[in-house]
Amino acid sequence: MRNDANIQKYRELAQKQMKKIIVIATGGTIAGSGEDGRTTEYRAGTIDVSDVLKTIPQINDLAEIEMISLISVDSNEMNERYWIKLRNTINEQAKRPDVDGIVITHGTDTIEETAYFLNLTVATEKPVVLTGAMRPATATSPDGPFNLFQAIALAANDQAHGCGVMCLFSSTIYSARNIAKTNNHKIDAFGLNEQAALGYMRDADVFITNHPTTRHTLFSRFCNKQFEAFPKVRMATYYAGADTAILDALEHDCDGIVIIGTGSGNYSQAWLQKLDELAEKGTIIVRSSRVPHSIVFDEQVFDPKNHFIGSNTLTPFKARILLMLCLTQTRDIEKIRNAFFRY
Ligand code: SIN
Repeated sequence: MRNDANIQKYRELAQKQMKKIIVIATGGTIAGSGEDGRTTEYRAGTIDVSDVLKTIPQINDLAEIEMISLISVDSNEMNERYWIKLRNTINEQAKRPDVDGIVITHGTDTIEETAYFLNLTVATEKPVVLTGAMRPATATSPDGPFNLFQAIALAANDQAHGCGVMCLFSSTIYSARNIAKTNNHKIDAFGLNEQAALGYMRDADVFITNHPTTRHTLFSRFCNKQFEAFPKVRMATYYAGADTAILDALEHDCDGIVIIGTGSGNYSQAWLQKLDELAEKGTIIVRSSRVPHSIVFDEQVFDPKNHFIGSNTLTPFKARILLMLCLTQTRDIEKIRNAFFRY
């Protein structure tokens, strides 16, 4: 016999059904501890993120959480091996039909690099959100719990699908491609360049205002590849009066170099000559800039032979990641140049 009351009850239950969010802990200040009340002189990655979760019981109204403690490091220990492990874990979890989104807790120092690497290599359109904290869990008024609460709320929100990998700090939703740390002592530590903001949050409410225009996740040519290791890409910074010693040292030591130039990705004539030499021997060279808000175009004055690639709007650190991934597939400079427009 049909029972309308029961049908209604099941409908309500289904509507209320919690989203399942996987929280993957990697360490950082959000899991940092030190002297009670102090915001400095602490050790990152020393406590369990499930203890941070316990301080935000409201999360239980938003989502069902499953924790994975993957690694526990200060993000200055993050490296390519950990990136592969994290990316493979995300891909495995994202394949589960019962999983709706993934949150990664991470140190703020290198979060922008991990986020961009994941943006190019994870194969899911389920929300993947990184967050962290500037104050350790033992500080007076730590920022980690609220960031974690909002990151989980974002990952559980349908609007966050297809936005690529995101970072959540201080009620702001950042794109993985464009987030950059711009302050090393305030809790609002990430700067907004023109492209970084995807939207905002008010408590658990999500307001997506922009979508990424460059390729990511399922549209990235790197998302279905298996990685064991990466070609070596190093960085060299130009400064007033720099001789070419750093370039001489890198000559036999890497597959690619990202130059952190001045202004529009610039350097001296002596550097130009040495870089031309390296390019002729097969090193792939990307020109980027030390200026925080910059676009580096391909150009004639600092690259008359069209030997190098402009980093476009990528920071030097993100340009290194893209070049490293490109070099797993090709050494054709025109194909790599093209990737710097698309990714
Ligand atoms: C780290 O990056 O692991 C330490 C600094 C931080 O999380 O803010």
